Order: sequence, then C-alpha cells, then structure tokens
Amino acid sequence: MTRTILVNKEHKIKDNYINKINLITTSDIDNEEVQVEEETYQAYLELKEFLEKKNIYIGISSAYRTLDYQQQVYEEFKDKYGEEYASKTVAPVGTSEHHTGLAVDIGLIIDGKPLETNYDLMDNDHIFKEIHQYLHNFGFILRYPENKEHITGYPYEPWHLRYVGKFVANIIYQNNYTLEEYLTNYNGIVFINKKKNMTSFDVVNQVSKLFGIKRVGHTGTLDPLATGVLIIAIGQATKVVELLTATYKEYVAKVKLGLKTDTLDITGNVIATKDISNDINIKETLSTFKKTYLQQVPIYSAVKVNGKKLYEYARNNEEVTLPKKEVTIKEIELLDETKDSFTFRALVSKGCYIRSLIDDIGTSLNTYATMTELTRTKQGIVSIDQTNSMNDLKQENLTIYKIEDTLDYPIIEVDDFLEKLIRTGRPLDNTFQVTDKVIFKDKQSNLLGIYQVENDNLKVWKNFR
Ligand code: DAL
Ligand code: ZN
Repeated sequence: MTRTILVNKEHKIKDNYINKINLITTSDIDNEEVQVEEETYQAYLELKEFLEKKNIYIGISSAYRTLDYQQQVYEEFKDKYGEEYASKTVAPVGTSEHHTGLAVDIGLIIDGKPLETNYDLMDNDHIFKEIHQYLHNFGFILRYPENKEHITGYPYEPWHLRYVGKFVANIIYQNNYTLEEYLTNYNGIVFINKKKNMTSFDVVNQVSKLFGIKRVGHTGTLDPLATGVLIIAIGQATKVVELLTATYKEYVAKVKLGLKTDTLDITGNVIATKDISNDINIKETLSTFKKTYLQQVPIYSAVKVNGKKLYEYARNNEEVTLPKKEVTIKEIELLDETKDSFTFRALVSKGCYIRSLIDDIGTSLNTYATMTELTRTKQGIVSIDQTNSMNDLKQENLTIYKIEDTLDYPIIEVDDFLEKLIRTGRPLDNTFQVTDKVIFKDKQSNLLGIYQVENDNLKVWKNFR
C-alpha cells in the first residue's frame, strides 16, 4: 500500500487499492463511528496528544469514505452550504482522497464544544495555521494549501490533512510542494554503499519505496558480490543518469590466483586450475595494464548480441563470439599480496569490467585469476566516504543531493522573461559564454533545465518543468 498514492480529479482511486486498506474504527468529534487507515490513525493520535500540550483540541470530523458515502457528503454539503459551495469543495465520487483512508479532516474543539460549520472553522484559521507548522513531524501534509488551487483542484482547506509518512512529509514541507508537485517535480540523488548479496535493483526498490516515487534509477550495476558506491537518482534526477555514468570509476578488488570460473568471479563454477609460478611479479604486471585496450565483454553480462543477452547464450550453452570494447585503465596499483592472492586499486573508464581485467591480468601472469571481492570506492565525484549505508536507508536518515550538486556545470538563475523561454525549451543566445552545458534555475532556485552549446547557440538538453 503506497502512502503517496495520488487521488485527485484526474486520478481516480482503483478498486484494488480500496480492497487492501487496513481500517481502524474509532469515534469522531461528535462521538459517531468513523474509520481511518491504521498507520494514519496512530499518527493522528500522536498529533492530537502533542497539540493538547499546547492547549489546542482537535477531533476527527471525517476520514475514510466509501464511494457511496462520498455521494452522501455531497448531498449533505448541498443542503448545508448550497450547491455551488458543495460542487467546489466536495470531490466527485471516486476522486476523493478520503477513499484512501489516509485523509483526515480535523475539527476544532473550543471551550469543550466542537465547531459546527466550515465558516466557524475558517474564522479560526489562526489555530489551523499553528497546527500546520507541526504536521510534517507526524507524517501529515496540508493537502489543499492556499494559492495552489490551480494544481490541487480545490480551494484552501485548513482541516484536510493527508498522511504520507514523516520522510515524504518533511520533503514536501521543506520545499513548499503540493503532493502533485512532489510526485512530478522532485529531483533527488542519494549515494548508497551497497551491501554484499544485494542486487542494485534491490537498492533501487528500497529507495523508491521510501520516497514513494516510481521513477528511480541507478548509475551502473554493481553485482551482488560487489559493495560500494551506487548513485541513485530519484524523480526528475533520472534524466541526468547518463551524465553521472559517463565518468571514471575507482574499484578495489581482491583476486585469487590459480583458478578460473565460468563467471570470472568466485560465485561461479571452477572450470580450470593452473599452478602459480614462483617468480611472478604482480606489481610489474599490473603496471603494464595502465593503458587503453580492447577488453572482451564477459559472457555472464547483460550485453546484447543479436538482440539476446550474453548470459542467455551461456545458460543455453549456445556459441557466441564475445564482443570487445575499448576501455582505459587510468590508474592501477597493487595494495597487498600473498602467495596466491592480491588486492589492487584501479581507476577505469565507463564500461570496463573488473572481472575481465582480472582475467587478463591472470593470463599475463601465466596462470588464472578470479575476482573474490570488489568494492566501488569512487564514481565520478562521489567517493565511498560520502555514501549512506543500507542501515541509514532503513532508518530513513539519508543525505539527499540535488542534480545541480552532483554535476560540474555553471548554474545561472534567470529572470521571468528567460524563465518563460526555458520552460518552453526555446534556443537561447550564448551570452553566458558557456563552453559545454549550463544549468538554469528560476528566481526561487527551482531547476528549470539544462542547456548545451550547439553552433554558438544554447539548445535545450533536458527540461525539468
Ligand atoms: N473536500 C475534499 C476535496 C474531498 O471531498 O475529498
Ligand atoms: Zn477532507
């Protein structure tokens, strides 16, 4: 059950969502039965208790609504406030957030008595305003804020709270977003230190769940065996993944000599062994690999040949000629060695397979060599000591970067006139003397787009609005 589900005039709730909601039954502000989603109710109780210490007393005036009940609310509003008010403020059946169980309308209790009408509530807006500044600490957002009617579809409703969980509520509050804006405009990048035995996809999934955003990508697979830097792009940041991957990566790898496996790492089946001669010089051999060469892509990889992934050929025992790709080993250094193993550090270009490099080193040493451990210690400007652990991710305690923090391009804040041109992706004169790419932001520091130089002009490369 996703807590960031979007339900509005354009997004109707789906039956399979409704069927999965865990509802709690409790009493509303008038002591009538009301149902609320379980986690939302716990968060509501914490908020209520906190507010009581500040002498603010609230109750639930409405929470979960079935489709039929939403129709009934509309009729009641029509009788109480008139048709115009009802049609402006009550969501059409099937498009109300109240169908999720995650929305709670709160009422105010003043001098022991609940306020009765929306007009009375509006008259006490100063009390709501105080409440609003605490909501995110309890995982709620104000779903229909002032001046956002063009985005949310509803005028200001100081009482309508929406539960999204503390992590997302905090981001939405800090950025002054609506839920709609969060789900479409958010751009975030996190650096994770992947643990052994996890796939890169597992990490992507966990990040996606935490942010409640489906569009999440990473900048280069780390095999389950490997640990280290995995850059994860969230929302709009997925648009720049290619820039973040086009860089050098640094690895530290451990190698076992004298055996060969089918996967070129220790997780595979041993397919050959060979003695290790006594007079090998690992340090010297490594230094000969500081070069650009054609590296054979390993068979256990997702690289496609004739539309089929290489590992599928391997699985089916089919013959295939392994393609070769140009790679550059910029730096390579021996860190440690024993009789039959060694550890090295290497800085390599995009697309270089460390397993294959190790296999080639084995050949040069006149034996076999197999990767036993691998850590990515750097990717572009991100090094492993800047990463968050998987535990940080679990504790929802992440350092979040923005696209512009992770790219090395000039950033220009533009005026309203240029903003309009950039929003529509119009080419611009290169009055900024940009040499490659440039990041444009609006006056509020929101990312607008990235442009690049093309024939002395600036052309849009990516638009973020
Ligand atoms: N009043 C809100 C928009 C609803 O009916 O869901
Ligand atoms: Zn409501």
